[in-house]
Amino acid sequence: MRFQPTHYNWTQSTMALTDEHNETKWNNYYKTVAGRAPRELFWQSVVRFKPGDSQVSYAIDLGCGVGIETRELLKRGWRVLAIDSQPEAMAWLESHTPSEQQSNLETQIVSFEQVVLPVSDFIWASVSLPFCPPQSFNELWNKIVTSLRTGGRFAGDFFGMRHCWADQKNMTFHTAEQVKELCQPLYIEYFISEEGERSTALDGIQPWQAYSIIARKP
Ligand SMILES: C[S@@+](CC[C@H](N)C(=O)[O-])C[C@H]1O[C@@H](n2cnc3c(N)ncnc32)[C@H](O)[C@@H]1O
Repeated sequence: MRFQPTHYNWTQSTMALTDEHNETKWNNYYKTVAGRAPRELFWQSVVRFKPGDSQVSYAIDLGCGVGIETRELLKRGWRVLAIDSQPEAMAWLESHTPSEQQSNLETQIVSFEQVVLPVSDFIWASVSLPFCPPQSFNELWNKIVTSLRTGGRFAGDFFGMRHCWADQKNMTFHTAEQVKELCQPLYIEYFISEEGERSTALDGIQPWQAYSIIARKP
């Protein structure tokens, strides 16, 4: 069982959040996690791409938040499309990207439900896909699989059915079997299951169940 040091928390209320509440919630999250290091899953992913491979160049950071991994990819010479529904996230990312790397950064403020994904080599979606509403999840996942070039990789997290936010009707949760089934068009290179308590960024320790994967398009 592995835990990352910082995380965001979401009210466990089953009431739908207003846009304003949503924005405040995410802004508080961004302030809390802005100084964190790139995630362990990210390092596990990037080492799988061989330096000098001409196909390895274009990444999508889906639900990027303040774009900590986007900035690390830019530093390493990748071109990155960073996507998030929150304008504050993009403003933060753009203002914290060095000017010499700006030309490799593209940003889009759009929801998962509306997003159009171009062809890519790497899709990074850390702690973001579960926030896609259930009715839109499969369509989003199909877009992810279609977007990846042969040899490209997806890396990201799914929340399990015993996650503390599992009663949120507008979020999506999966069993391990469902995650594996979603990944059928891909080859799973890394699969880690976490269940336990996790220290969250805004609300202390919470029960946490998640699956983190790296999968390659054959
Ligand atoms: C927990 S944060 C994770 C941010 C970043 N990937 C990280 O690992 O720190 C989830 C992000 O997903 C974004 N998000 C949530 N629902 C979304 C949706 N329906 N469409 C697009 N982005 C969404 C939020 O704005 C937030 O920045």
